Amino acid sequence: MPPPATTSTTPTTLLTAIDIVAALDIENGIGTGTAMPWHLKADLKWFATLTTTHSNKTDDKWLAKKSIHAAKATIPSSSPPPPLRPHTGVIMGRKTWEALPSQYQPLPHRINIILSKQERHKYLTTSALTHKNVKTYTTLEQALTYASIELKRLFVIGGRRLYQQFLTPPLNTELRYLYITHIAKNFNCKVKFPNFLDLVASEKLSLIKEKEKDLAYEIIRYRMKKACTKN
Ligand SMILES: NC(=O)c1ccc[n+]([C@@H]2O[C@H](COP(=O)([O-])OP(=O)(O)OC[C@H]3O[C@@H](n4cnc5c(N)ncnc54)[C@H](OP(=O)(O)O)[C@@H]3O)[C@@H](O)[C@H]2O)c1
Repeated sequence: MPPPATTSTTPTTLLTAIDIVAALDIENGIGTGTAMPWHLKADLKWFATLTTTHSNKTDDKWLAKKSIHAAKATIPSSSPPPPLRPHTGVIMGRKTWEALPSQYQPLPHRINIILSKQERHKYLTTSALTHKNVKTYTTLEQALTYASIELKRLFVIGGRRLYQQFLTPPLNTELRYLYITHIAKNFNCKVKFPNFLDLVASEKLSLIKEKEKDLAYEIIRYRMKKACTKN
């Protein structure tokens, strides 16, 4: 993955993959504008495991188990995973950051990259302002330059504005997988995930099928048509 930096000396690139992670209702809805209208514990555990992991071995383990309940033994519970170096990171828009519960600002064991045109003290709490895992940028280009140098794996975690930018040229060619949790219910969401089915290849893997609180959902890994080939 070439860094988008325009400097003459090319920095060493660590980043091997950029993937999208999102949960969609039956109408591709993702949220109300300030929150997500569902709470699926096992899906959140899946999200935490996926986004703190460097390698696709996580996918393989879950594929082998085919069930969140069966796979629970592989999920880190109370004991935090060892510090990662190089790190995995998540990138999100300012509204998604603000929608995170305060105890998950930042999401633990990952670099949290937040995009906003505003000054950081306007949307970060005092503790987040000085947290080593919180990085803020006012442009996507700056954020990606940082990620190229410092991160091994980057996950785009929303919201709609961020997804849209990564699914649009030229950035869509840098994307590899979309990990989509499809929830079989309509939540009448105001905010929708961008249309993506034309952008993905026929290769798709059903990672998990689950039912929780009467909500059926399936996690599918889609590969982008012109995906980054490094793994
Ligand atoms: N279902 C899911 O998987 C999922 C995941 C994540 C979020 N969500 C939901 O999605 C909704 C939020 O989505 P959203 O599209 O409204 O907001 P968003 O993408 O989270 O945040 C948008 C904000 O990010 C900043 N931003 C985005 N691109 C930028 C760029 N290139 N340069 C500088 N700043 C940039 C701007 O902040 P400033 O205005 O401060 O400049 C912009 O207003 C919420 O309801 C949330 O719950 C759902």
